[in-house]
Amino acid sequence: MEVIICPDEHQVGRVAAERVVSWVQGLATPVLGLATGSSPLALYGELARRVAAGEADFSHGLGFALDEYVGIDPENPLSYRQTIRRTVVEPLRMEPSRVRVPDGAAPDLAAAAHEYDQAIRAAGGVDVQVLGIGSNGHIGFNEPTSSFGSRTRVKTLTQQTRADNARFFAAGEQVPTHCVTQGLGTIMEARHVVMVVTGSHKADAVAAMVEGPVAAVCPGSILQFHPSVLVVTDEAAAAGLKHADYFRYVADNLI
Ligand code: F6R
Repeated sequence: MEVIICPDEHQVGRVAAERVVSWVQGLATPVLGLATGSSPLALYGELARRVAAGEADFSHGLGFALDEYVGIDPENPLSYRQTIRRTVVEPLRMEPSRVRVPDGAAPDLAAAAHEYDQAIRAAGGVDVQVLGIGSNGHIGFNEPTSSFGSRTRVKTLTQQTRADNARFFAAGEQVPTHCVTQGLGTIMEARHVVMVVTGSHKADAVAAMVEGPVAAVCPGSILQFHPSVLVVTDEAAAAGLKHADYFRYVADNLI
């Protein structure tokens, strides 16, 4: 696993964007896997800057969001459908009809989740998967103890995740209890993964993911088995890494 530790969030965004652009270079139809949440905003902002400057073009790309809340109206601004539209589709000038989000309002959620998983494969798979990590180690909404072989499906959110995401909801508004999320097995099929992490509240999760044993209690640790993962953190999120000096040394001595 490659880890780059940056002085601040802006540099995290720049470093991650640089890698995304290099990974999709030359692809006629880049397929992006898209996380929501706070972590990837600097990355998406930097990609948007490059698109506006004519240095990157995602207009022929496809997108697949990682997850969606169950039972939320897709028109609700807090739905991940709307979040992806605001933070990715519009700024990166992607074609809205080419960016999919799991359907959390489908009458048959299991069938819709299965179809979503198949659609990713039919598109040729994800070229670059953007990830954040939860303070409990989740990726997508694969909560601790999720199966490493899991596919896109309904999951029950932990109370920790609901509390962490309460900041997006108005006071008194309930954070949904369930979601549809790409599975760990689905995520692992992406050709490249870039994870962006900032803040001291993520330090334990980052340490467990990068240096801990591979274990379902820290779902992100499955990425230790992936051949192409870049983790970009700020100093605070890297504070628990025992090998931080080595990661800095590697970054300073690339050949
Ligand atoms: C979001 C997602 C989650 C978040 C994670 C971190 O689509 O799948 O895994 O990446 O919960 O969220 P933030 O970035 O808001 O701290």
